Amino acid sequence: MKIINRIDKMKTYARIMKKENKLIGLVPTMGYLHEGHLSIIRAARNQSDIVIVSIFVNPVQFGPGEDFEKYPRDINRDEELAKDCGVDIIFYPKKEDMYPEGFSTYVNVEKMTENLCGKSRPHHFRGVTTVVMKLFEIIKPDITYFGQKDAQQAYVIKKMIEDLNMDITMKIMPIIREEDGLAMSSRNIYLSESERKDASLVYESLKLAEGLIASGQANPKKIIKKMRDLLSEKPALNIDYISIVDTKTLKEVTTIEGEVLIAIAVFIGKTRLIDNIILLPSALLCEQKT
Ligand code: PAJ
Repeated sequence: MKIINRIDKMKTYARIMKKENKLIGLVPTMGYLHEGHLSIIRAARNQSDIVIVSIFVNPVQFGPGEDFEKYPRDINRDEELAKDCGVDIIFYPKKEDMYPEGFSTYVNVEKMTENLCGKSRPHHFRGVTTVVMKLFEIIKPDITYFGQKDAQQAYVIKKMIEDLNMDITMKIMPIIREEDGLAMSSRNIYLSESERKDASLVYESLKLAEGLIASGQANPKKIIKKMRDLLSEKPALNIDYISIVDTKTLKEVTTIEGEVLIAIAVFIGKTRLIDNIILLPSALLCEQKT
């Protein structure tokens, strides 16, 4: 496994691999790898000839006052973990090279970036699509892998690939969770012991919604109310949003008739955690079973 820092070197390597007809799989990350990342990397290892993992804490997707400075970083640990998963290349560019003085071009996917996380993090997705577009241009992957954990991010990137006619296959991998259900995240390290305990309620609230929908509840407002009631048991939890949206448009639904995404963001102390679940209404579930 090699670490490549320079953009020109990364381009040259990727172009050579392309010439040799190697299938390139790219897993973009911000590092501080955990089992969620590793499960994606293993999928890439199974499906591509060359696995490239990018590690770059992307400043332009963090808002003022967010955690860019203190975002956890440990390249040596990441290197070991990546090597164990059979990664070929870690692309680890420098901030000054990715965003030199005078950088002024951004990629923006409209509409579906305005709700859910886009509401409380206004320029976040513009930062994500810009850096991912840059990674795509540098590496020219055949397949790219993202996690369902950041559902809106995955849908936004899928839309960018479609809208811009990019020749890239995108795979979205399932959420990997801790034993108590908490979705794995590099940010979980910020949680104190008691916050960590309370955090399991986030997934519990999604499971509560799943139960309600399975028993026929189709009114999103009633489901959200029950989720809020459950979460309010822990005063340390502050809900940023809970939203039930159509999986294709990410628009809020007024009644649950087709596949929906229930997305949630909460603050626990200063830490913002997100999670989600995709569900079918009970009528469709029964149809699927028969
Ligand atoms: P990061 O948070 O490091 O996540 C990298 C990838 O791992 C994303 O596709 C994310 O959805 C996925 N992932 C994170 N936790 C996961 C979990 N518990 N289960 C499954 N997949 C998980 O997302 C980013 O970085 C950045 O926004 C990035 C796309 C790299 C652009 O900067």
